Amino acid sequence: MISQKLNDTLTLITPGTPAGAVLRSYWQPAALTEELQGERPVVPVRLMGEDLVLFRDQQGELGLIGRHCPHRGADLCFGRLENNGLRCPFHGWHFSRDGQCVEQPGEPEGSMMHTRIKNTSYPVMEKNGIVFAYLGDGEPPEFPNLDCFVAPESHVFAFKGLWECNWLQALEVGIDPAHASFLHRFLEDEDTDNSYGKQFRDKAEGAEIPMTQLLRDYPRPDITVEDTDYGLRLIALRQLHDGRTHVRVTNQIFPCAISVPMSREMIITQWHVPVDNENCYWYSMFTSFDQPVDKARMREQRLAEHTLPDYAPIKNRRNNYGYNAKEQQSQTYTGMGMDINVHDQWAVESLGRIQDRTKEHLGKTDVGIIRYRKKLRAAIDAMQKDNTTESLPMTNGTKPSSVSGPVSNDTITSSADWRAAFTASDAERRASCTGWNARLSDSTI
Ligand code: FES
Ligand SMILES: [Fe+2]
Repeated sequence: MISQKLNDTLTLITPGTPAGAVLRSYWQPAALTEELQGERPVVPVRLMGEDLVLFRDQQGELGLIGRHCPHRGADLCFGRLENNGLRCPFHGWHFSRDGQCVEQPGEPEGSMMHTRIKNTSYPVMEKNGIVFAYLGDGEPPEFPNLDCFVAPESHVFAFKGLWECNWLQALEVGIDPAHASFLHRFLEDEDTDNSYGKQFRDKAEGAEIPMTQLLRDYPRPDITVEDTDYGLRLIALRQLHDGRTHVRVTNQIFPCAISVPMSREMIITQWHVPVDNENCYWYSMFTSFDQPVDKARMREQRLAEHTLPDYAPIKNRRNNYGYNAKEQQSQTYTGMGMDINVHDQWAVESLGRIQDRTKEHLGKTDVGIIRYRKKLRAAIDAMQKDNTTESLPMTNGTKPSSVSGPVSNDTITSSADWRAAFTASDAERRASCTGWNARLSDSTI
């Protein structure tokens, strides 16, 4: 357990907060590219407690500016999209995509007042289906060469979903390898041929048994956490009865993303981005090593569970997440259906909007969570001390562009050298990837 003061320091992210400053030092997902499709590409964005509006102008360029007009505060989401900018419908002030006011048609002829009016604006960059924004000071950092950014657009599918809780507890479910044996337990195994687009339904490399069975039969992983340039690598070992070892490698990418294997074919890179202190979005990039991603199918699977335009889950706390006591007895551990996203959503939302960590009791399997909080705390302390980002991961002398992969993999090996086993298994998958160059340099591994 930690003090209330430390809990506040680690979780609160609105402007002026220490954790907010750390998160603002990195590119963060702000919207899906698909949200800007349609006749009028203008969408509201609430990001880390700031209300913004994202739009694509007639030249195809993106702008992310303050949602409230600097004149008298009208909502620019209702602005007129014209002349490569947004015009406020209240008195006609016009803003270009960098937030500069360029016209005030009601002010006296020749007035230069507009030159002194600048709305908030942030840099944005589109990457394989996600619009990323940089809300920090100074120049934005480079993007790391993560698989989801290196792979061609055809091999990456992006989606998002709203969770009604603080971002940190959302992230912490992703660095907790023990929960998969319980929260995502299926009491019956499905045919793994129907596993496309679903997590924990494939077979691990080298296994004849489905992941569902493996996780169920071996619930006590031995977890190792290693520091890396980009954050943390988590290795969960499960000793099988026949003497072999199941090795699951997942990652925390600082400050608020994870990278996990989904199947032999795909990995998931997932950000947990604060909307404000009490809500967050998960943004996932599903990257395929093998064939191009079947985006229509992936989207259809996920749209069946969410409502637009907010990407809000259909199952939620207001309908008890679809809880069914009979199902809990016979089919799933949670009684909340077969979609593991719903299980995770319940697990993170049921802790309360902001988990009260003064009452928790962390065990040995929570080592990833403990190590991550330590890292975030160190980043906060360093930023407060010298007011720079120089000692934060991927800015501490490591160029973000030198970060690649990372290795996210499930494999089963009879060798005691599990490190060599997962490295070889991952390299084999990457070497057979024909649609793009997924190979990693030795220094990455
Ligand atoms: S409030 Fe926007 S122009 Fe007046
Ligand atoms: Fe999970």
